[in-house]
Amino acid sequence: MAASPAKTFYIETFGCQMNAHDSEKIVGTLISEGYRQVDTVEVADLVFYNTCSIRDKAEQKVFHRLADFKRLSQQGKKFGVLGCVAQQEGRRIFERAPHVSLVAGSASYRNLGSMVRAIEHGHERVTGLDDRETEECFETEFTARTNPHRGYITIIEGCDKFCAFCVVPYTRGKERSRSSDSVLVEATRVVDAGYTEIQLLGQNVNSYKDPLGKRTFAELLAAVGEVPGIRRVRFITSHPRDFGRDIVEAIEAVPALCDHVHLPVQSGSTQVLGVMQRLYTREQYLERIGWMKQAKRPISITTDVIVGFPGESEDDFQQTLSLLDEVEYDGVFAFKYSTRPNTPAQKYLDHIPEQEKSRRLAVLMERQRAIQERNNARHVGEVLTAMVEGRNETRQQWVGRTSQNKILNFAAPAEARLRAGQYAEVRVTRSFPNSLLGEVVV
Ligand code: SAH
Ligand code: SF4
Ligand code: F3S
Repeated sequence: MAASPAKTFYIETFGCQMNAHDSEKIVGTLISEGYRQVDTVEVADLVFYNTCSIRDKAEQKVFHRLADFKRLSQQGKKFGVLGCVAQQEGRRIFERAPHVSLVAGSASYRNLGSMVRAIEHGHERVTGLDDRETEECFETEFTARTNPHRGYITIIEGCDKFCAFCVVPYTRGKERSRSSDSVLVEATRVVDAGYTEIQLLGQNVNSYKDPLGKRTFAELLAAVGEVPGIRRVRFITSHPRDFGRDIVEAIEAVPALCDHVHLPVQSGSTQVLGVMQRLYTREQYLERIGWMKQAKRPISITTDVIVGFPGESEDDFQQTLSLLDEVEYDGVFAFKYSTRPNTPAQKYLDHIPEQEKSRRLAVLMERQRAIQERNNARHVGEVLTAMVEGRNETRQQWVGRTSQNKILNFAAPAEARLRAGQYAEVRVTRSFPNSLLGEVVV
C-alpha cells in the first residue's frame, strides 16, 4: 500500500450547490497535487474556505472563521479564501486578514494547482481574480465526488441577469455554457462512478445555450435522463424568464427527470419585480406555474422569496402572500433583503426597518407552513419511491427523498440492508410540514 501523502488540507464550504460542487473539484485538484484531506483545521497544512456572499450574514462567517484560527498561522499553516467573497473583496481580504496567503474566485480555479504551488514556495499574496470577461469553465478530470448519492454536473456558469439585489453576476462572472456533448460524457462518467442520480447545476440552468448549438436545455435534460444507468435527474436553479414549456414536456416524456422544479419568484408584486429587474411580471410567472400544474404527472414546485426589498409596501407584501396561496408551493426559501456591495439596489434609499422585515418573514413562513401541511397530508397512504440518503440512528430511521424532492423518513427491517444511493418503495403513514414518514413495503 502506498504511504498516504504528508501534505494535508482542510476545506469548509458555505453557500449554494454550485459551491458544494466547486469544492468537490477543488478537493480533487488538491489530491492530484499530492495532498490528503483532513477533518480539522488543527491538523491541516492548508486551510481553505469556499465562501458565499449572497447575504451579509453568509459573508461574515468567513471573517469569523479567519479570526478564530488566526493564531494557528504562526505554526506555518496557510490560509486560502476561495469563492464569492474572494472574488467580491479581492485583495482587501489580505488587509483584513493578513494571515491569508491565497484569494481566488471561481473563474480562476483552473489555475488552482499553480496557485497552490506558489503558496508552497512561500508566496504570501497569491491571487486568482479573473473578472467577468473570462470565457473559461472549470472542467477537471480530478473531481472528488464526495456526495454519497448524488453526482453534480455544472452545465452553465456565471450569470448575466443582473437582478438589482444580487452579487452573483459580479462574483461568478459572465454566463457561459459547456457543450452538451461534454455534459453527456461527464454524465456517463458519473454513472461509471456508481451514481444513479445526477443534479445539473447553474445559477440559471435553463438559460443554457449549447456553444455548439446541438441541444436546447430541454433536449439536454432529456438526453441526460436517457443515459443508461441514470434513474433520477434534478436541475437547479431555473429562472422564470427563460422557463419554456418544453421543460415541462421533457419531464412528462422522460421518466428519469424528477417531478420537481425550483422556480424562484422573489416577489408576488409586479411593481417590486420591476424594481428588482427580474424580467417577468406576476402574470408571466403564474403562466409558467400553470404549465406545470397542467402536466401529465404532478410536478412539485418550490421557490425563493425576498421580503423587505427597498420600497416593498404592505400591499406588495400581501401580493406575495396571495401568490403563495395561489401556487401552493411545496417549499419556500424566504430571506430578508440584505444590502450587497456593488449592486444597483445598494443605492436605493427607501429601506424597510429590520424589525418590519422580520415581521414579514415570520408572517410569510407561518402562511407557507400551513400550505405545506395541507400538501404533504395528501401523500398519506401513497407508496412512493425513496432514494436512501442516510440513516438517523437516534430515531432508528432511514432518511430518504422522493422524486418530488420531499424528505421521506422511514423504517425498514434490518434484512433490507439499505445504504445511501439505494431505492426503496415506502408507504407514507404520516405527514408533517417539512417531511413525510413511512414504512418500507416488502
Ligand atoms: N439564480 C437564482 C438565485 C440565486 S441566489 C435565481 O435567479 O433565482 C439564491 C437566492 O438568494 C435568491 O433566489 C434570492 O431569493 C436570495 N438572495 C439573493 N440576493 C439576496 C439579497 N441581497 N438579500 C436577500 N436574499 C437574496
Ligand atoms: Fe442573481 Fe438574478 Fe442572476 Fe439569480 S438571475 S444569480 S438572482 S442576478
Ligand atoms: Fe453564495 Fe456565490 Fe452561491 S454568493 S449562493 S456561493 S453563487
